[in-house]
Amino acid sequence: TLTPTREDKFSFGLWTVNYNGTDPFGGPTRGHLEIEHVVEKLAELGAYGLTFHDDDLFPFGSSDAERDSYIERLKKVLADTGLIVPMVTTNTFSAPVFKDGGVTSNDRAVRRYTIRKILRQLELGVELGAKTFVMWGGREGAEYDGAKNIQAALARYKEAVDFLGDYVLSQGWDIKFAIEPKPNEPRGDILLPTLGHAIAFIDSLEHPELVGLNPEVGHETMAGLNFTSGVAQALYHGKLFHIDLNGQRSIKYDQDLAFGHGDLHNAFALVDLLENGGVGGGQAYTGPRHFDYKPSRTEDETGVWDSAKANMQTYLLLKERAAAFRADPEVQEALEAAKVFELEKNTLNEGETIESLKADRTAWEDFDTDAYLGGKGFGFVRIQQLATEHLLGAR
Ligand code: GCO
Ligand code: MN
Ligand code: MN
Ligand code: MN
Repeated sequence: TLTPTREDKFSFGLWTVNYNGTDPFGGPTRGHLEIEHVVEKLAELGAYGLTFHDDDLFPFGSSDAERDSYIERLKKVLADTGLIVPMVTTNTFSAPVFKDGGVTSNDRAVRRYTIRKILRQLELGVELGAKTFVMWGGREGAEYDGAKNIQAALARYKEAVDFLGDYVLSQGWDIKFAIEPKPNEPRGDILLPTLGHAIAFIDSLEHPELVGLNPEVGHETMAGLNFTSGVAQALYHGKLFHIDLNGQRSIKYDQDLAFGHGDLHNAFALVDLLENGGVGGGQAYTGPRHFDYKPSRTEDETGVWDSAKANMQTYLLLKERAAAFRADPEVQEALEAAKVFELEKNTLNEGETIESLKADRTAWEDFDTDAYLGGKGFGFVRIQQLATEHLLGAR
């Protein structure tokens, strides 16, 4: 069960394994990998999907003929290996034209150009059978408060997403949008910085049902937030359309470590949530387990594939550990004692009115709040220690 198979639905961004090591302090430490090689290696390692930005496949500024030839090469290797393209996305952040963002650039001509670029990639995604279109607005933001009218920028963001949604509906396409929040980097402050901001924004759209979230481990962690808890809220709102798995150690630059190489406890809780956390038990998320990480700059090509394997292996290990945790009678007993299941019970009785609640003496007059001082504790620490022991393979 620790060998990845296609049923596990592991997918990788073309930009992840093809990251050449460039960072703000130095250039590449690795060469470029051809598309055929990447797809063949991913297939061999047990992945089922490849995702990509337009510019990952055909360089920015490619002629239509060059673009077509890259697309043909991709289609051929997909057919040869059986890999699919579950998601595509557009690069609206690397080229100089996007220096002030794409759909929210102060420059209207840039905004119109950006929508055209997104449309081309959306059409290609549909042609390749992608079901999700990720929108990560990395450059949609600002460094200086006076330089960006945030309310106007959000209105332009909405204008673009509404326009794209109308297009999808008019074409009858089976594809949905997933917004990927990030607090900062490359902009000083990015619009829709967290899952919560994005959920509220989605509510303001013309077709909110077409738009969900693509949460990334590192991004919520950069904002000091609990990733698993954010994903749970995304599930609660029916908005977990896709997910970017990686590792991040605390509030700092976007580390893009392999999955589990950051906060391992939270990764354990995340896999438990995705695999076992559905309402009434069972899988809560059935979409691609997508890795958006960067093989560290220190690695050679062997290290690239080792790190790709590490992502999948860690996921499967955590899935196995989470199942063992759930199956442990002592864990079930601890969860019961901690009243974890009691939270699923409605607070009010069926058909309860203000009058009946007011008439219930046990809810106020006879309720002994003093008993909670020094009374029985919840035992949450015991649950966390049981989780830790399962995580460490000690149970
Ligand atoms: C980042 C983001 C990107 C997006 C990608 C998909 O911090 O660089 O995570 O990798 O996920 O652009 O749209
Ligand atoms: Mn990221
Ligand atoms: Mn990402
Ligand atoms: Mn990334």
